[in-house]
Amino acid sequence: MPTRNTPAPGPKLVIANWKMHGTHAGNARLIDALLPGLSAMAGVQVAICPPMPYLAQLAGLLGRTGICLGAQNISERAEGAFTGEVSGQMLADMGCGYALVGHSERRSLYGETDAQVAMKFEAALRAGLTPVLCLGETIHQRRAGNTNAVIGSQLKAVLEQVGMAQLAKGVIAYEPVWAIGTGETASPTQAQAVHAHIRQLLAAQDPAAAARMRLLYGGSVKADNAAQLFAQQDIDGGLIGGASLDADAFAAICRAAISAEPPVGAGLPAKNSTR
Ligand code: 13P
Repeated sequence: MPTRNTPAPGPKLVIANWKMHGTHAGNARLIDALLPGLSAMAGVQVAICPPMPYLAQLAGLLGRTGICLGAQNISERAEGAFTGEVSGQMLADMGCGYALVGHSERRSLYGETDAQVAMKFEAALRAGLTPVLCLGETIHQRRAGNTNAVIGSQLKAVLEQVGMAQLAKGVIAYEPVWAIGTGETASPTQAQAVHAHIRQLLAAQDPAAAARMRLLYGGSVKADNAAQLFAQQDIDGGLIGGASLDADAFAAICRAAISAEPPVGAGLPAKNSTR
């Protein structure tokens, strides 16, 4: 199956999604345990998405470590009487570089629609954030043979809202719903097949931009399966839930992302380049 025909320009991206876990003291302990290992790592980009109330704490703890801060959600609105919402501008103001958009837990538990997700993607870009668009099918959709159709329609909603040039400024995370928090990871082959499909859909819009876009895999990524997943041609990193709450496991996943990089001289720009 033809996918990207050039190596991914830049290091892999590994994003921790802490979901609704953490305390002030526990976060400090986790970062303390992580930093010695992570700060010695060149060749991988790392971001951490803590719960909203801890963004300021994490901004302080991460400081100049090179580890980015991200948010787990973003309002589609810019400002106003929207109780409980957090705008892109506020997230940028707190030091965030990334915002997750359309995580399946937001879609299924909080009723976020494709249209809303598209607006959130646009709101993140407006605020200067890199949106991480999460796509994924349920087990019923997969069993019915509808995986590609579901992913395609989730992607289309954003493409129609913002266009390919804007979409290409973001990151896409494929997270099969059935693999999230279940311990049941998509096999490297299953994940690669969907990633290749996503890249083909993008390539139909703009082949060069499609080849450059980072496609992350998420769903029960652990220290012992990360290397095989990251070795797939169209997997450019991971979105990590449960395992990101364990310093050793998360560091091992980041190391796996480095060793999955093509050898130096394979057409990559210098490490730590951004796209
Ligand atoms: P797990 O790694 O816990 O399966 O969660 C994946 C996820 O939803 C990350 O956003």
